[in-house]
Amino acid sequence: MSVRRLAEASLQPASFAFSRANAAAAKQWIKKYPKGREQSAIIPLLMLAQEQEGWVTKAAIEAISDMLGMPYIRGLEVATFYTQYQLNPVGSRAHIQVCGTTPCMLRGSEALMDVCRSKIHHDQFHTNDKGTLSWEEVECLGACVNAPMVMIFKDTYEDLTPERLAEIIDLYDAGKGATVKPGPQNGRITSEPASGLTTLKSEKAILKATRDRETRAATKAAKEAAPAANAAAPVPPAAAPAPAPVAPSNASKPKTDAVETSPALKSPSVTKVAPAAEKAASVAAPLHSAANANKAEPQVEDVSKQRKGSKNKAEPASAFKAPEAKVKPAKAAAEAAKPSPGNGSRPTGKKPV
Ligand code: FES
Repeated sequence: MSVRRLAEASLQPASFAFSRANAAAAKQWIKKYPKGREQSAIIPLLMLAQEQEGWVTKAAIEAISDMLGMPYIRGLEVATFYTQYQLNPVGSRAHIQVCGTTPCMLRGSEALMDVCRSKIHHDQFHTNDKGTLSWEEVECLGACVNAPMVMIFKDTYEDLTPERLAEIIDLYDAGKGATVKPGPQNGRITSEPASGLTTLKSEKAILKATRDRETRAATKAAKEAAPAANAAAPVPPAAAPAPAPVAPSNASKPKTDAVETSPALKSPSVTKVAPAAEKAASVAAPLHSAANANKAEPQVEDVSKQRKGSKNKAEPASAFKAPEAKVKPAKAAAEAAKPSPGNGSRPTGKKPV
């Protein structure tokens, strides 16, 4: 697990303020939450700050915490917990997130990381010499069917080869990142089979089959309608009765009069119920009865008797007796008197007579 810390003090700017457009966007975000829950807007606000500054500064965390009326520690907790927040400066033109999770790894993400190492910096989260590019390895970005892939800002570049990634990095470094088309880089459309379509190849064939089917159906309907037309003039059908209105189902509604289920109740009552009333309303647990408990099940009764009757202590089943316990007492004494071979020199433990 990586430890996420704020950038060194020397890198931190003294202050932070949202641009005019981002301040308006921040207000919109805050409005989306109910009164008293505005602090929930911290996630989108931190994201806005990152889009504006490139990374999340300490000053931004504090300014946003002030905006939302929350302690700085709460803002710091959020910013240091979620890995989508960059806590250190990243490349000014691109920060490349290379997916290293299993499907991408099996399809060559290591080679993509080697490209980043050679073109940007050997280590993640370090900018190149010009400060324009940086990279990091991330977990699955949800485009596994087009693995391997990278994400730059909010765009994904999929079906990558090391050569194509190198070209993309060069374009971003030259400030031409906007010219790169996001999505699959091998020419396929979204996630269609990489070797081209295998089914539904010709639209003409599909349309012809549909037309033929429609023609056959029309011919059949015309044939069936002909004898009927020669018969007596058809009586116009009576107007169908209007369907009876269906009452809404109460199937999922709880069948209870409990006050907690009342739609009128918005929050718990502040009035405390008197203890005596509460006791009167609650159901007492049944008293324990040993006689009844033993009648419950024959097995339970047996166990109960076994536990109570210490005189008739249950013997273990003979199949499970220890081998020495099966030997008869007289035989066991004779066995014990016999000197055992090979331990004649050992003391028997008996006193010499
Ligand atoms: S594993 Fe790479 S996008 Fe899912």
